[in-house]
Amino acid sequence: MIAKRLKELAVIPVVTIRNDADAGLLGDALVQGGLPCAEITLRTDAALGAIRILARNKDILVGAGTVLSIEQAETAKEAGAEFLVTPGLNPKVVQWSLDHNIPIYPGISTASEIEMALDFGLTQVKFFPAEAFGGAKTIKALSKPYHMMEFIPTGGISLDNLGQYLAIPQVLACGGSWMVEPDWIQDHHYHRVIVETRKAVQAIMEIRGKTDHP
Ligand code: 3PG
Repeated sequence: MIAKRLKELAVIPVVTIRNDADAGLLGDALVQGGLPCAEITLRTDAALGAIRILARNKDILVGAGTVLSIEQAETAKEAGAEFLVTPGLNPKVVQWSLDHNIPIYPGISTASEIEMALDFGLTQVKFFPAEAFGGAKTIKALSKPYHMMEFIPTGGISLDNLGQYLAIPQVLACGGSWMVEPDWIQDHHYHRVIVETRKAVQAIMEIRGKTDHP
């Protein structure tokens, strides 16, 4: 189950890739770093090709982000995306995903949007843009009336504030791009990806009081 895996991983690297040929080595770096997962944002022409490449690596959980239309959802699924993430809650895209049996985490930032998600039977959503919309404090406040919800805060998260989010029981996982800077990927500085990913994994283990990370 995708959500269970995301919860185990705790952090979803949000990747914007400019050249799909870089996807294989990026995937290897994420595996080496200890976060074998990538949300590839559909913001570049290289995104679908990158999803196709990563989907061949069965060690990696690959999803598509910035999905703004049914057409994008369709092509991302065809390319091998195992889950979809959207910045907002687009009812058409959500319905298409439910009809086609692909997990979707639509972006919400208000109580009313949570209720729209609940109307679709969704209890797991992205909280976006997390830091700009009040961060951990807002999630705690929203979790009171909506105790059935789980959130994937994304936007402005880094090693500095990761702990605040992961300490909240209703946080399923955090999304972030800080360990996969687009320039590092373009310039093939995969060692930086590995180092920053390992730091994230170390932080997750410390926050969770564990000595290993699945
Ligand atoms: C994005 O908009 O690219 C994602 O939400 C990630 O945000 P971040 O770059 O602040 O981690």
